[in-house]
Amino acid sequence: MRSETAQLIKLQDYKETPYAIDSVSLVFKLKPEATEVVSTLTLSRRDGTEAGTLLELDGDELTLVSVAVDGVALAQEAYQASATKLIIHNPPADTFQLEVVTKVNPTANTKLEGLYLSKGIYCTQCEAEGFRRITYYYDRPDVLSVFTTRVEADKASNPILLSNGNPQETGDIEGTNRHFAVWHDPHPKPAYLFALVAGDLACTSEKYTTASGKPVDLNIFVEKGNEDRTDWSMDSLIRSMRWDEKVFGREYDLDVFNIVAVSAFNMGAMENKGLNIFNDKYILADSDTATDTDYEGIETVVAHEYFHNWTGNRITCREWFQLCLKEGLTVFRDQEFSSDERSRPVKRIADVIRLKSRQFPEDQGPLSHPVRPTEYKEINNFYTATVYDKGAELVRMIKTILGADGFRKGMDLYFERHDGDASTIEDFIKCFEDANALDLTQFSRWYHQSGTPVVKARGSYDAAAKTYTLDLAQINAPTPGQTEKKPFFIPVRFGLVGPNGDDLSYSSVEGAQVNGDLLCLSEDKHTVVFHGIGSKPVPSLLREFSAPVKLETGLSREDQIFLMRHDVDPFNRWQAAQTLMTELLIELTRGEEPAGKEAFIEALGHMAEDESLDHAFRGFGLMLPSEQAIALEIGADVDTDAIGDARDAFSKEIGVTLYDTFKRLYNELDMPAAFSPDAISAGKRALKLRCLSYLGAAQTEESAALAKTHFDNADNMSDRMGALTILVIWQLAGAQEALKAFEERHKDTALAMDKWLSIAARAPSEDSVAAIRTLTEHPAFSWENPNRIYALIGGFLGGNTRGFHAADGSGYNYLAEITLQLDKTNPQVASRMVKSFGNWKNMNAERREKAKAALQGILEADQQLSTDVKEIVELCLD
Ligand code: TRP
Ligand code: ZN
Repeated sequence: MRSETAQLIKLQDYKETPYAIDSVSLVFKLKPEATEVVSTLTLSRRDGTEAGTLLELDGDELTLVSVAVDGVALAQEAYQASATKLIIHNPPADTFQLEVVTKVNPTANTKLEGLYLSKGIYCTQCEAEGFRRITYYYDRPDVLSVFTTRVEADKASNPILLSNGNPQETGDIEGTNRHFAVWHDPHPKPAYLFALVAGDLACTSEKYTTASGKPVDLNIFVEKGNEDRTDWSMDSLIRSMRWDEKVFGREYDLDVFNIVAVSAFNMGAMENKGLNIFNDKYILADSDTATDTDYEGIETVVAHEYFHNWTGNRITCREWFQLCLKEGLTVFRDQEFSSDERSRPVKRIADVIRLKSRQFPEDQGPLSHPVRPTEYKEINNFYTATVYDKGAELVRMIKTILGADGFRKGMDLYFERHDGDASTIEDFIKCFEDANALDLTQFSRWYHQSGTPVVKARGSYDAAAKTYTLDLAQINAPTPGQTEKKPFFIPVRFGLVGPNGDDLSYSSVEGAQVNGDLLCLSEDKHTVVFHGIGSKPVPSLLREFSAPVKLETGLSREDQIFLMRHDVDPFNRWQAAQTLMTELLIELTRGEEPAGKEAFIEALGHMAEDESLDHAFRGFGLMLPSEQAIALEIGADVDTDAIGDARDAFSKEIGVTLYDTFKRLYNELDMPAAFSPDAISAGKRALKLRCLSYLGAAQTEESAALAKTHFDNADNMSDRMGALTILVIWQLAGAQEALKAFEERHKDTALAMDKWLSIAARAPSEDSVAAIRTLTEHPAFSWENPNRIYALIGGFLGGNTRGFHAADGSGYNYLAEITLQLDKTNPQVASRMVKSFGNWKNMNAERREKAKAALQGILEADQQLSTDVKEIVELCLD
């Protein structure tokens, strides 16, 4: 919320600062309502800066106490201070010291950016532009400096004092009940990586020795009482450190690595140098309160933040347009880590589900933007699925194109060439080009052109000539701000599947760049002819989801079922099932009776019982596409009630038809006596719950009892939450009783109650908004804590499609109402919520009208909007 009319920030306007900050010394005198920050900057004029050039520093909601240059307080006419800028008119010609004293109020900081209090713990969140809420500074990623930080606080309430780098000195402040700690971070860093924590925290510690023998102290700090829930995150951290040494040759570079978990946090976690700060959801776990998905999420996020130490911190971004340089790459790295630690095909499926459910919708609506955008109004709005998840797909494609060795060579060169730099995507790509003597110009378009390409494939077999011809076309529809599109370089991993399920080999091929099982598209259209094909194949295209495109194969249902059963690529077996389900569901939504439905259900039964597939895979294979995914596929004039009805009816039909199969499987899958969060056990639990959910969909007395017993006997959160969800969604007998029992058991554990809130938010109801309003009154809910809001409101917007898209517009009006309410306290959270309007134009006329009115209502409200919310609403209405 910086100014009335936010300006457009453009990449082309990028300029270096006129001054460099050689070092920073900070002193924090922490008090809940009036913290004093003394900042001493050593500044020097950069080459090419004229003497006397203005020094303009960023601020946000700051109170200036004093300003001095080289020890002398500045006269009033020598500077200009506002809430958002500090301008020094005539700085000394050479190196000089600027001392700025500001006051901030951590208690009043409800935005959770800058310095704030979370349950009595002082903590900071500086990415992207939070440091300017602490002191006046060049708050931009290309200004790197060496930080020394002294933290002073009341000793009794804040025994732990932390900042970045290595600890230097601690002591009492004489004559007071306060103490101090000094931290020094030798690695130059931008301000967004600064962090400070002070509070009364419990700590779990381990010792780690790096590959080259350097000892590191690992500490995880949590609120007291939570220290027995850190085993899994510590284990994940140690495995991440080992993995990065082995796979990328990257070692840790400080004496200590500290993690702090706080309960009030806008995002998942933050990679501050040597002091990662986490949303406690991604640190705390035990079997009673965390699901298998939570364990996986913790492993991933701990790894992600740790991996940032090299991809983000040692090499940072030149400006925020380059955000994908650190985020896309680091997501790719955490995905690879989890793939190595767990099942690679299952992890790939999970990542593609995430991409298709979060990034595809973004790319097919008004919020579509390139992975590397060229303009924005509010940077907080660009921490998107496109930057993160599509960004990771682009790195994955580089690896696919270059192969593992070529990729590693490029990464090695990147670390060697750019360590210590604030870098760009162009720098990154250049390393792969130089290390492999290759031109990636066309490939780079993926960073600049937005939108999801559609790839159409049609094949024909000539038995006499023994040739198989594939006609491939890429279609790139216009996206906001980009009317003309050029063809992408698209790597398509493929196989030509012969009648017995094995891939056929070809003697020669023409029409595109083909290397083994990799076919690369570079033009709008290709006709690819394979020679020496002895029998008619079924093409299996885009194996492992080798590019982030929408594939349309036009394959018959018979051929899809064939792939679902026989493809050697597990990803495409899963994809074939998904494609079929989506086609059938769309026809069912239109009220048609789809051909091939019975055959498909039969094939699904086979997949469920196929012992050659691991349990987790089968759990995913049986999963119907979400209502949102179906809506996106339909694309226009969507009636969410019709989708919900069709999907419910189809679930029920599958449940009834395969009842015996699911029951047998459910009974046969036995779990080890003691809970373990490992991938194999988690996969079994997931498959068992998937069976139970189809049985639940059949809505028999027996299945209701089975679900209730599953709930009652659960010795872990996955089973308890899974069974509760089935009871509530299918409105089975015992649902209300189970909701009560869950509440009773977990009422004192906020993270567990978040699950309860999100299930309750999804419950079918005649008046969903009224139900949500009632839930906001529940003691477990709070408008002050983002996790509670994401659970309840996010659960409603993302998980209760009928309710949010109710034809009477009540869901839309409610979202408008809470957006306005939240915007007053936490614009980042408000903006994340309002993004749920993103695909409103796909709805039918009745709903479109209601959504548009609700969006306009936000703009017209008698209230100053944040740039965060305003930018999203304006893009939606554009
Ligand atoms: N860099 C963080 C990550 O690991 C993202 C993040 C955490 C963030 N907190 C934030 C971004 C607050 C913007 C605002 O992905
Ligand atoms: Zn990140």
